[in-house]
Amino acid sequence: MNLELRKLSVNERLQKLVAEGIISQEQADLLGKEGPLSIEAANKMVENVVGTHPLPFALATNFKINGKDYLIPMAIEEPSVVAGACNAAKLALPAGFTASADEPVMIGQIQLVQVPKPEDAAKKIIAARKEIIAQANSCDPVLVKMGGGCKDVEARVLDSPRGKMVVVHLLVDVRDAMGANAVNTMAESITPKLEEISGGKARLRILSNLAVKRLARAKAVWTKKALEESLAGKGVELKGDEIVDAILDAWAFAAADPFRAATHNKGIMNGVDAVVVATGNDWRAVEAGAHAFASINGKYSPLTKYSKNADGDLVGEIELPIAVGLVGGATKTHPTAQIAVKILGVKTAKELAQVIAAVGLAQNFAAIRALATEGIQRGHMSLHAHNLAVAAGAKGAQAEKIAAQMIAEKKVNAQRAKELLLEVK
Ligand code: MEV
Repeated sequence: MNLELRKLSVNERLQKLVAEGIISQEQADLLGKEGPLSIEAANKMVENVVGTHPLPFALATNFKINGKDYLIPMAIEEPSVVAGACNAAKLALPAGFTASADEPVMIGQIQLVQVPKPEDAAKKIIAARKEIIAQANSCDPVLVKMGGGCKDVEARVLDSPRGKMVVVHLLVDVRDAMGANAVNTMAESITPKLEEISGGKARLRILSNLAVKRLARAKAVWTKKALEESLAGKGVELKGDEIVDAILDAWAFAAADPFRAATHNKGIMNGVDAVVVATGNDWRAVEAGAHAFASINGKYSPLTKYSKNADGDLVGEIELPIAVGLVGGATKTHPTAQIAVKILGVKTAKELAQVIAAVGLAQNFAAIRALATEGIQRGHMSLHAHNLAVAAGAKGAQAEKIAAQMIAEKKVNAQRAKELLLEVK
């Protein structure tokens, strides 16, 4: 639809939508309502703003990572994700998670086409490595002073559908930033030099979201005992070692089958994205990196790995690229993102990446533990029933009563919620 919105104020945009019959005045009032992210701030972040779009902001408890206790902010609309993370973290206590992360090194790519002798050019670029690094670093002295900056240069010759091209990688330590701005500026600044060395023409100059130099890892052990106790009173008769085996089978399914691996990794990203969003980071970047990394060996695979230790307990591990920052972008301009970082208490982007990796592992464990034992629906059902009751018009205790009744009857649907609401009224 061709609506001229760009030059209007937020209020004028809303009135235009009402005038065009796209939304009602009531909906315009709701959209334009002030929230923690003010309309004015939102209007400075992106174009054509007509409101803000809040998500539930929750805190995951029980996380101990590298011996430190964390309260973890999660912004997510999906029921059971936060509960799953809390529960998985609790079952990993008292040891909790161990986690590590690489230095925050991002890759900036410069594509060179029409290079007369591509292999020679790649060699010449590597030979001029020091000069290239110095020139790239001259555009960000502050980053260099903080210990970051361009650290290395790589060059590859690629066979593409349009012939050979030389692709140069600048490896840039971006410290506590996500890094897109610093890397893109460096990549652009170094282009004339690379054209001169290679004799070719530069095309794209942009960071890669496949941040393989910026991996984060987490590990936890879930004991047979803790696993068995977690099912107590849930009507599922499984011994601890049977649960360990069931979870290993669930993981092996993902390792063998990309159809399952996609869903397995989606469960990981439920946790990862929720923290990435809460802290104002770019979740599309983290998603792109995670899925590209999942297929880096040619087959789309799970981002986690499970095994049994000498005691027969379950060991879970995760490794994935996590390009997140604490400075720049929405991490600084979004007020609730700033509060999230404060609650989390992380001091560096590296620490944030470790926390996110631990949450991803916890989330995955929670999902496959439920799937391999009691099934996922039981946990989902009570929240789903509550949502249906609210959608039918029930409020507060009334909604809880209707949800409980639907679960007891095993009839959890919108029609039944409406009927029960009429009965209650
Ligand atoms: C749902 O959001 C996530 C799960 O499908 C993950 C999984 O299947 O492992 C439950």
